[in-house]
Amino acid sequence: MLVRLNVNGEWQEADTWPGASLLTFLREELGLPGSKNACEQGECGSCSVWLDGEVVCSCLVLAAQAEGREVRTVEALSDGGSLHPVQAAFVEAGAVQCGFCTPGLGVGVTDLLERDPAPTEGAIREALSGNLCRCTGYQKIIDAVRLAAGRARGRPA
Ligand code: FES
Ligand code: FES
Repeated sequence: MLVRLNVNGEWQEADTWPGASLLTFLREELGLPGSKNACEQGECGSCSVWLDGEVVCSCLVLAAQAEGREVRTVEALSDGGSLHPVQAAFVEAGAVQCGFCTPGLGVGVTDLLERDPAPTEGAIREALSGNLCRCTGYQKIIDAVRLAAGRARGRPA
């Protein structure tokens, strides 16, 4: 079946099978491998994308359900060769180890800071509770969110 959707501001279409997830469609049909496939069960958040402005696990959405809708992926965060401020904060805070969770966290943290520029630690932990990281122990991730939030408000951290 043919699926047409708007990805990162551009209309794209490709053939896929009716049971294909949005994650598979993005990675395999549209050549956007930034969203990661770790669990394919909605448990880890590594496949997070925005669908009509809401963060979803793209492994739980059928590509067909995204027909005609707007998808924003982690690829939209960086500007050419420049990292998004959230991505830069992750690097600086040492919140990237294997990096498998990082794209999903980049989407989740960006979404959080767009909605709440000064989140409390509780709000950060709540917002990221669906993003699993096997490596960092989460403290560096919290540090990165604080760093990005502080900079966005014009403060060092
Ligand atoms: S791959 Fe989608 S939540 Fe884990
Ligand atoms: S950095 Fe390895 S899973 Fe998070």
